[in-house]
Amino acid sequence: MRIVILGANGQLGRELQRAVPHEWSVKAIASSDCDLTNHKAIERLISEIAPDAVVNCAAYTAVDQAETERETADAVNWLAVENLAHVAATAGAVLVHISTDYVFGGESRAPYRESDPTAPINHYGAGKLRGEQAIAESGCRGVVIRTQWLYSPYGKNFVKTMLRLATQQREVRVVADQRGCPTAADDLAETIVAILPAVVADNTLRGEVFHFASRGEATWCEFAEEIFRVAECDCRAVAITTNDYPTAARRPRNSVLNCSKICERFGVEQPDWRESLRRNIERIKKNDNPL
Ligand SMILES: NC(=O)c1ccc[n+]([C@@H]2O[C@H](COP(=O)([O-])OP(=O)(O)OC[C@H]3O[C@@H](n4cnc5c(N)ncnc54)[C@H](OP(=O)(O)O)[C@@H]3O)[C@@H](O)[C@H]2O)c1
Repeated sequence: MRIVILGANGQLGRELQRAVPHEWSVKAIASSDCDLTNHKAIERLISEIAPDAVVNCAAYTAVDQAETERETADAVNWLAVENLAHVAATAGAVLVHISTDYVFGGESRAPYRESDPTAPINHYGAGKLRGEQAIAESGCRGVVIRTQWLYSPYGKNFVKTMLRLATQQREVRVVADQRGCPTAADDLAETIVAILPAVVADNTLRGEVFHFASRGEATWCEFAEEIFRVAECDCRAVAITTNDYPTAARRPRNSVLNCSKICERFGVEQPDWRESLRRNIERIKKNDNPL
């Protein structure tokens, strides 16, 4: 299997490079190697490598900043994805693209299924949805995987922020009226590796959407409590409401993803979010990554 990973320095891009089997040929492309918004450069890159699959882990992920940097966010999350889908189709490569729970409005009480109506309430979610739609319209082979609340030992994320704050404060105020599922990027990377051979072999998959997150659910405040408990921090999470913590972008109140489709279709198992958190906190501590 020959694959191209875009977004090589992001959380998922880095975990995916760790997860791929040694026998696969992998080209990991960072933004400094090739900017996704440079359509011609992406076209050249993919046609030269002629991969079986392109896994797009690159995205404009600054959710609040996307409200003001709309054009930049759209250039990466929508227009570059539209181009990538056409490039992959022309090169005969399968595209695995990552999308987000923020395509949903958050008013549902039940976990969201792939077939539920989308209704993004922030610009990041709207741009990612247009990216998904562009893939579907292109007819390009492959899948879109929506995920949520990603964290890892790399980059900036909620787990690392909480661990850092716990070294500075005895309590942290955390939003307790938004629900989702904390998902370790290494679990998503392993799932991508596990399903990729079947996706490449299946000519009928054309931008079909699947959800993948860990098993279970939590509020941000419950997530923080679990981080402090597992990492044995002398710090307390204090529940506040979304109104107490205004942000530029609105967030869905509930964005828990129902992942039964990917489990049934590909035999994937959802790991329990607390177990994955424990493993990743150990990794963060061992690597002694700067928080
Ligand atoms: N993080 C979450 O909680 C979350 C939740 C739901 C869905 N997702 C989705 O999951 C995927 C992976 O997220 P992540 O957390 O791994 O993201 P991340 O850590 O923010 O990494 C994104 C990567 O994209 C690269 N990138 C940005 N603009 C680019 C451009 N114009 N050309 C080439 N590369 C570019 C960045 O490069 P630089 O390092 O050079 O900036 C960065 O390495 C994304 O599709 C995201 O939308 C994430």
